[in-house]
Amino acid sequence: MPDSPQFLSGSDIRQTFLDFYAQRQHQMLPSASLVPEDPTVLLTIAGMLPFKPIFLGQRQPEFDRATTSQKCIRTNDIENVGRTARHHTFFEMLGNFSFGDYFKEQAIAWAWELSTRVFGLPPERLVPSVFTEDDEAFAIWRDKIGVPAHRIQRMGEEDNFWTSGPTGPCGPCSEIYYDFHPEKGDKNIDLEDDTRFIEFYNLVFMQYNRDAEGNLTPLQKKNIDTGMGLERMAQILQQVPNNYETDLIFPIIKTAAKIAGVDYAKSDEKTKTSFKVIGDHVRAVVHMIADGITASNVGRGYILRRLIRRVVRHGRLLGIEGEFICQVAESAIALSEVAYPNVRQREGVIKAELQREESQFLKTLERGEKLLAEILAKKPKQISGEDAFTLYDTYGFPLELTQEIAEEQGLTVDAAGFEAEMEAQRRRARDAHETIDLTVQGSIDKLAEHIHATEFFGYTQPQLTAKVEALLVSGISVESAEAGAEVQVILNQTPFYAESGGQIGDRGYFSGDNVLVRIEDVKKESDFFVHFGRIERGTLQLGDTVAAQIDRACRRRTQANHTATHLLQAALKKIVDSAISQAGSLVSFDRLRFDFNCPRALTSQELAQVEEQINTWISEAHIAEVAVMPIAEAKAKGATAMFGEKYGDEVRVIDFPGVSMELCGGTHVSNTAEIGVFKIISEAGVASGIRRIEAVAGPAILDYLNVRDKVVKELSDRFKVKPEELPERVTNLQTELKATQKQLEAAKQELALAKSDQLLNEVESVGEFKVLVADMGEVDPDALKTAAERLQHKLGESAVVLGSVPAEGKVSLVAAFSPKVNKEKKLQAGKFIGGIAKICGGGGGGRPNLAQAGGRDASKLGEALASAKQQLVDGLK
Ligand code: ALA
Repeated sequence: MPDSPQFLSGSDIRQTFLDFYAQRQHQMLPSASLVPEDPTVLLTIAGMLPFKPIFLGQRQPEFDRATTSQKCIRTNDIENVGRTARHHTFFEMLGNFSFGDYFKEQAIAWAWELSTRVFGLPPERLVPSVFTEDDEAFAIWRDKIGVPAHRIQRMGEEDNFWTSGPTGPCGPCSEIYYDFHPEKGDKNIDLEDDTRFIEFYNLVFMQYNRDAEGNLTPLQKKNIDTGMGLERMAQILQQVPNNYETDLIFPIIKTAAKIAGVDYAKSDEKTKTSFKVIGDHVRAVVHMIADGITASNVGRGYILRRLIRRVVRHGRLLGIEGEFICQVAESAIALSEVAYPNVRQREGVIKAELQREESQFLKTLERGEKLLAEILAKKPKQISGEDAFTLYDTYGFPLELTQEIAEEQGLTVDAAGFEAEMEAQRRRARDAHETIDLTVQGSIDKLAEHIHATEFFGYTQPQLTAKVEALLVSGISVESAEAGAEVQVILNQTPFYAESGGQIGDRGYFSGDNVLVRIEDVKKESDFFVHFGRIERGTLQLGDTVAAQIDRACRRRTQANHTATHLLQAALKKIVDSAISQAGSLVSFDRLRFDFNCPRALTSQELAQVEEQINTWISEAHIAEVAVMPIAEAKAKGATAMFGEKYGDEVRVIDFPGVSMELCGGTHVSNTAEIGVFKIISEAGVASGIRRIEAVAGPAILDYLNVRDKVVKELSDRFKVKPEELPERVTNLQTELKATQKQLEAAKQELALAKSDQLLNEVESVGEFKVLVADMGEVDPDALKTAAERLQHKLGESAVVLGSVPAEGKVSLVAAFSPKVNKEKKLQAGKFIGGIAKICGGGGGGRPNLAQAGGRDASKLGEALASAKQQLVDGLK
């Protein structure tokens, strides 16, 4: 047997594990989603989670044994990621499971066989642990496996009793550790010492259920749940110092290092930590989005947002300035697309989401940087805790980033003051509980106990009589409200469609005895339709009966746009690519917007074909067939569904037979002819892999045409040509403009050169060098450069510095130094001019012999040039 482990790639380890158990009659199953069915946890945290109902006896398993490689995310140790050798948010857990079939002895025997004979780990490097009271497991390790008794470690409940959460299936466990330093000897075994040991395989003897009070009841059957950390095994077998440097993650780090222009191997620990955080988190966010999670401020969405922001922030710490997350995400996708093909299939959505979040966060960071610059401009002795907190709280600037920037300026940050502000914020948040409850959401949560879910009749009825169940003003529940008040109203039943599936909420009116309420929007809050409106006349009271009536014209327009959106999706699939799928949409009265996955721009020919196809379908007058059916039936019929969207068991299907069939809760025309006409307005990319088409359909098209018509009329009046002659006229004008601009450039250059010749009078001699420093007025940067170069050549061994103000609020500077100035006097044009530009509030640089710079403060140009002159006189003596 080998005395050191054999190198295996991450994917080989995964496959070897699965094959080993498949050969032992385990059903090999794909990884479940990171979004668990189990409502007690936000994310899948272990390989056993998808099997929880089986362990609890709530679901009959189809197999007695299973093996998986499960995607997992844990965020409880997020601060340790990158700081230790083995902490992760995202990781893969290899597991073998027995559902009432084999138990302790077999599980231990196979784990040992796999570790030593298949992965080739030397037995003398392996140390098993058992739960303190588990004599049975202890005896198996000693007598059946042959591990010397003194090497088997007994550990307490905290380490060796495993539960998936506060409640649920659990049991004692036995773990296998790998020893990186066997030379330290058997006497000093301390499994807590993570510089020496790493736990790589956990065998849980799942035999109890724990209830909320902590009571353990034996499960009907005894089960086995195990977990081997794929990244940890890779660290051991690839003999690298930590999990991040395994082939499962390191390529991502390499990509990040390339973007940052930093050599990872030569970096200090802090820099390495940032790389490791990026390597870890990027895998997490890619898989989260692939599994349908989108960034938000709550729950899973918040975890995603936080991880993305941490990636961006660590990128900044590495000196990466622009957007980069999609490039590192591409590495992560390439690394896992074979094992998890959905990451490539969802590449467009993943990158679009990441890019959106990144650019949004970068903007926030930029605003914060501005504020920080203002703070620094006041030249404080220290950055106050209050300022650091504003930067953190409002602009997402983590304290360490503020500290870093402060440090560059030789300043410190009042960290204690920052902590105090944080604590005050926490206190405010606790005290603010009441105020938070006064939001619409909070009030409705409270009301929910007393009122019934709103019944929606708007598919068939544009008007009905309803009762006011709840009345809110600014989110606060009231008994009545007067004319002029902005109100939120919940009725027992409604004809108003509430915004969802991209379709906006209906407009309309409530009228009653002496009261009129104009409704401007409707949104759904859990089961309630909240009508947002304004009391136009009279008083509205809780319990009133009103006639609720939608604005039919608005609804007709929206419907035309909604059905047109379905036709658009069908036409894109038919004409461009059947793999096109919806990535988002907006359906309003006056337009529609449809986002879809497509790696390239559509050609104008394709767009024309799509438009023509849709107009053909419209004129063919296809009749809508709307039905509610079980989701399986709808899918079997081939209805299009939006990926990642949650649908109930029963779904509504909108079918224009032979043309389009989609799952949809929106409102539609009953015959495509009602749409009238469809027109594409634009097609563009919104993110990598995502295109957007904007279009109009139905009556809204007239508004669109009127606006266009007005513009065209105005232009043809102004140019005095017929509308069809406009393009040619504009082309001619553009050509003329270009020629004139060229002439102007040439004239400016000539002028600058003529001016520069006059400057020869101002040349001074310093030792053997000629020095010329001058202000050239309004000359633009290119001409300034040409002039400086020319003057320097004319003057021989010399230093020339010129400045100008080419436009308001702009300073241009250039330095041209001859070789001797560089070599003998050690003056470099680039460095020199950078220093001068600072005086004018700018910067810049370039080569040692010629360099340009810019600034913003023209009033300082004189001072800057005087300083340049002084420095040259001193430096060239
Ligand atoms: N469920 C066990 C763990 O996560 C195997 O460690």
